[in-house]
Amino acid sequence: MFFELWNVVWGEEIMSQESARKILVAVAWPYCNGDLHIGHIAGAYLPADIFARYQRLRGNDVLMVSGSDTHGTPITVHAEELGISPREVIDRYHPRILELWQKFGISFDLFTETDTENHWQVTQDFFLTHLHNDYIYKAEMEQLFCLDCQRFLADRYVEGTCPYCGYPHARGDQCDNCGRTLDSIELINPHCKICGGTNLEHRKTEHFFLDLGKLNPPLVDWINDGQKEHWRPSVLNFARAQLESGELHGRPITRDIKWGIPVPLPGYEQKSIYVWYDAVIGYLAASKEWSQNVGRPEAWREWWQQPEARSFYFIGKDNIPFHAIIWPGMLIGYGGLNLPYDVPANEYLNVEGQQLSKSRHWVVEGLDVLERYDPDPWRYVLAANAPETQDIDFTWEEFVRRNNNELVATWGNLANRALSFCYKRFDGRVPTPGVLDQRDEALLALSAEAFDKVGALLDAVKLRNAITEVMGLAHEANRYLNEKEPWKRIKTDPAAAATTMYVCLQVIDRLKVLFLPFLPFSSQKLHTFLGYDDDIMGRQFVEKYKETEREHLALRYDGSALAERWEPTTLAPGQPLRKPAPLFVKLDESIAEAETARMLAHLG
Ligand code: MF3
Ligand code: ZN
Repeated sequence: MFFELWNVVWGEEIMSQESARKILVAVAWPYCNGDLHIGHIAGAYLPADIFARYQRLRGNDVLMVSGSDTHGTPITVHAEELGISPREVIDRYHPRILELWQKFGISFDLFTETDTENHWQVTQDFFLTHLHNDYIYKAEMEQLFCLDCQRFLADRYVEGTCPYCGYPHARGDQCDNCGRTLDSIELINPHCKICGGTNLEHRKTEHFFLDLGKLNPPLVDWINDGQKEHWRPSVLNFARAQLESGELHGRPITRDIKWGIPVPLPGYEQKSIYVWYDAVIGYLAASKEWSQNVGRPEAWREWWQQPEARSFYFIGKDNIPFHAIIWPGMLIGYGGLNLPYDVPANEYLNVEGQQLSKSRHWVVEGLDVLERYDPDPWRYVLAANAPETQDIDFTWEEFVRRNNNELVATWGNLANRALSFCYKRFDGRVPTPGVLDQRDEALLALSAEAFDKVGALLDAVKLRNAITEVMGLAHEANRYLNEKEPWKRIKTDPAAAATTMYVCLQVIDRLKVLFLPFLPFSSQKLHTFLGYDDDIMGRQFVEKYKETEREHLALRYDGSALAERWEPTTLAPGQPLRKPAPLFVKLDESIAEAETARMLAHLG
């Protein structure tokens, strides 16, 4: 008997060790040149966070990293507009991005920035290794030069018509319409973004090139390795079409600008490394920085070198070429590091029928809305209508309707009426059940099965379907309660009412876990109402530390105390409850109109 028990315990230990997988959650690095809007959040940050929280609950080892993208023309153009230095631009927005993640509950293990010594070093090492491995070559090329401004027009300093799709506002390095990466000299009718003029000439300049032509064959092998069935068709088709066209050619990865990471070779002081080359390396650099911070400097290898580890890159669709082609190519050229396991890119979120645009003042900014609304309703609405397979139109009417009809009327109402009833009528404790009937058993079974069902959807990054499934269970639980009418039964058959309420709280306790990746703030609240004392959300904090040059701000997440697991919980009869309060607030319907009017008033 004793021996058998040992076996069981030992067996479980082995199982749980075997099933813990290293999961790298790599999230697009936002340009640090402004406040982020709900399009950014719905596109990359929220899906990444939901996925990461779920994987942690599953018992997997998640490393979720990103940071502010601080180099290149996206920053310098903005700095010139404001008449401040690029570093001042970063100091203005980076802390606000950290604040947004904290308020929105985006649980980065590390959110850093690219203007750090660590990141410079890792980037320069990549550069020198590519050079040594013959994936970088040097060549003369022609770049656009503005004769009026007397400067080279890198990337965002020039706009023109896309040679591939005819879009008239393509930028020097990418067309926002067809998503292709460009060389600025390919643009038709280019004009200078600084002076607006067209007094441009082609001028020779020397640059370093990443040899994507040479990387094309191994990339084709990789994309066709038979292990991409789980990829979203839009991402896979885009990457495959580009790779199989065989048109990849060397791309310059240095620029004639000063703001950026220096080329680690003498004689190139006037140039710097192209922002896209350094930004993607950030995933590795941040993993190394995190390893340093937690005092296990070699830990990053577990996510980057273990063959069973999986990396998921959460990005918007404009970033697909960089993550499904160029970054994998860079990794092949470097050698010894895992290639992306999946690139679950999202499509765009439009608002009230119009594309979000900072320049036209058509934005719904994250920090701004959090001054008026709680984070969970946003998380809910943006996940329930996530732009996973097509562009999605967000409307304020939908926000109010989903908040009121789904969060408040279905989930919040279920939790609140069950908890209030037990708190008042069952002496503030989880009731003790009698014999369960078929209806009770059926609902409990449904709630237990939900873990596998929802888990499979989350593993496949089908977050929209996953949250719909969870809300469906909340709906079922409401139906159960309405059929059982414990508020009536308690007068005639208190034991039966106790059984019903026990079953109901049990299901609510499970829904709390099922909703946790999506609605961490309200699940934490509910956890407390249910009488638990521990923390199921993890702790986020800003960390300041000094590299030799200056102080550095980063966001960290500590989930080490998390006890919850992705499996049916069992609530103890008799457990004392805390006084409940509603989880969500009903919004007045006039809000939709008021918010839309407010946006229209700003539209330029
Ligand atoms: N800053 C880029 C953007 O906002 C994304 C960079 S993703 C990274 O589009 F991989 F390069 F970091
Ligand atoms: Zn185009």
